Amino acid sequence: MLQTNTVNINLGDGSLNPGFRDVDGGSAAEDPGKEKRDPEYAQIKPYAGMPKEVLLLHSCKARYRVPREILFWLMVACTLALVALTVTVIALSPRCMNWWQVSPVYQVYLRSFKDSDGDGVGDLKGIQKQLEHFQYLNIKSVWVSPFYRSPLRDSGYDVEDFRAIDPLFGTMQDFEKLLAEMHSKGLKLIVDLIPNHTSDRHRWFNLSRTGDPHYKDYYVWSDCNGSAPRPNNWVSVFGNSAWTYDDVRGQCYLHQFLKEQPDLNFRNPHVRKEMTDIIHFWLEKGVDGFRVGAVNRLLEAAHLRDEPQVDPKKAPESVASVWDLHHDYTTSQLGLHDLLRDWRAEMQAYSREPGRYRFMVTESYDYHEVDKTMMYYGTSLVKESDFPFNFYLLDLPQNTSGLWVKHLVQLWMANMPKGQWPNWLVGNHDQPRIASSAGHTYIRAINMLLLTLPGTPTTYYGEEIGMENNNGTDGPSASQDPQRSPMQWSSDMNAGFNNKTNTTWLPLHPDYRSINVKAQMEDEGSVLAQYRSLNTLRQSELPFLRGWFCFVHADASVFSYLRELDGLSRAFLMVLNFGGEPAVTDLSSVPELPDLLTVQMSTNRSNDDKVLHKSRIPTEAGEGLVIQYTTNTRFHPNHPEQCYVSEKACYLSAVDLLYQC
Ligand code: NOJ
Repeated sequence: MLQTNTVNINLGDGSLNPGFRDVDGGSAAEDPGKEKRDPEYAQIKPYAGMPKEVLLLHSCKARYRVPREILFWLMVACTLALVALTVTVIALSPRCMNWWQVSPVYQVYLRSFKDSDGDGVGDLKGIQKQLEHFQYLNIKSVWVSPFYRSPLRDSGYDVEDFRAIDPLFGTMQDFEKLLAEMHSKGLKLIVDLIPNHTSDRHRWFNLSRTGDPHYKDYYVWSDCNGSAPRPNNWVSVFGNSAWTYDDVRGQCYLHQFLKEQPDLNFRNPHVRKEMTDIIHFWLEKGVDGFRVGAVNRLLEAAHLRDEPQVDPKKAPESVASVWDLHHDYTTSQLGLHDLLRDWRAEMQAYSREPGRYRFMVTESYDYHEVDKTMMYYGTSLVKESDFPFNFYLLDLPQNTSGLWVKHLVQLWMANMPKGQWPNWLVGNHDQPRIASSAGHTYIRAINMLLLTLPGTPTTYYGEEIGMENNNGTDGPSASQDPQRSPMQWSSDMNAGFNNKTNTTWLPLHPDYRSINVKAQMEDEGSVLAQYRSLNTLRQSELPFLRGWFCFVHADASVFSYLRELDGLSRAFLMVLNFGGEPAVTDLSSVPELPDLLTVQMSTNRSNDDKVLHKSRIPTEAGEGLVIQYTTNTRFHPNHPEQCYVSEKACYLSAVDLLYQC
């Protein structure tokens, strides 16, 4: 029994306490009005450890009940408001940027990147050793050129076994270790998918040429004989007839590339199934994306008619080059996009987990048939690649002028389907190095261009230090060797490419003693240091990642554009001189720009922090300026035809929020 100073209460049975009993047996808890009528209840005060009945008695009193109800409804209202706010924020938020949008793609040409075992050839373990390089550059996406088992007639693009690693490059275990370590460092690995052809050493080709019933139509075969040595006039990309006679089968097979690379027949459902299985195999391994090669050549017209000659007067027997024909029947055939859509759909199934999106980029040189290129984006309903490689800037060296660069950039921006994501490159293993073809003077401005345009830049290994072609070498494929020389890591033996032997599969560029990663890491004004700062700027500033891109000015020297985001007062003006002479640019006719502009970063560091009047912006040939300015006046609303954005986003500075607008 516990005593209080007012009433006796039996804790074991509250009903025994007369204070809780009504005259007619009902409890005060059941009748709160009773308290008013019976002063005895009013005397019971709340106390610690009171039994349920006392608690109920008090909780029904207005002075407890009313605040409780107010609090309850307040909580309901707050919860509803919070849910509404969350739903609104989610609905208004722009889509999260994907990994392949945030980081540049870095292309590793495997044979030439880093040799771990001293055999003179770059390998998978070599890449693993150099992962810090990507981290140093703040690069997250790495495309590694083919490592599949191959006789290497076309640097690994002639695959003998799509599921095996060539011993020259390592083992499957090396691959798995590399991938695991890349993932643990937050890096993504993109690999080549080479669906158009196999090596002539592939098991399928051997079975096909011997007429195995299952494999006989895996490739494109046609009759040919002494009187008609080729089925038609089609030519290979590498020159001469695209047909080769096979004396085992007694027929000709098609090869759009080397004769050692027979074209697969994608009209055969078994071939389609084989390629899907290969895609699954590498996705299961965990690769983050595919660079799908030669996609425009996946199908050929089944009728095998001659292609029209570019010069109809040319003697048909002298037609030998890919430039001699209009490729009406060997490229961009009906059905091709269905193949890509199917592959994309397979990849989507592996893209569901957060952060595990599998990326697809397609390679198709459609030259200036820009509409054909853009089709590889798919449609808003049916996806294909995330982007087709944009090869237009490869033409930059043809005419170094601001107007020309603007033209090339506009080719993509004006033709890209709405809402899609652009991309830029100036080199790869098939193209001369830009630092040589455009000239070393322009390498910094070119890197600056790539890293400040909207979309994803691709960097071919060595571009970050301004590597040049190594001409005059006499290697296995003379025309492409210059751009494939070993990566220049340091001024040590073999440029740090390997340190165990005197051999490298291609000769080193002799300039490696001055142009190398180590030396440039120590020099704040180097091409490398500038690349790194620009990449950091690009990834940390919303206008570069998400903002509007607007053409502001172009002339014989200068190409100028700006990047701005609605709601954000910070914007960037880019002034790049691609001409041969110094220039002074007058932007006084652009009222949206403040009169005084401060150079945030120049490719010539001595011009950093200079304050310039917008009517006189001086640049040297090959100089680029990043100018940050503050404004509340936007350029894009007044110049809609000069501006592009993939997905509109606005910034609310009061709450530091980005929303769709
Ligand atoms: C595309 C590759 O980039 C190129 O190097 C190769 O020669 C062709 N595919 C043919 O395999």
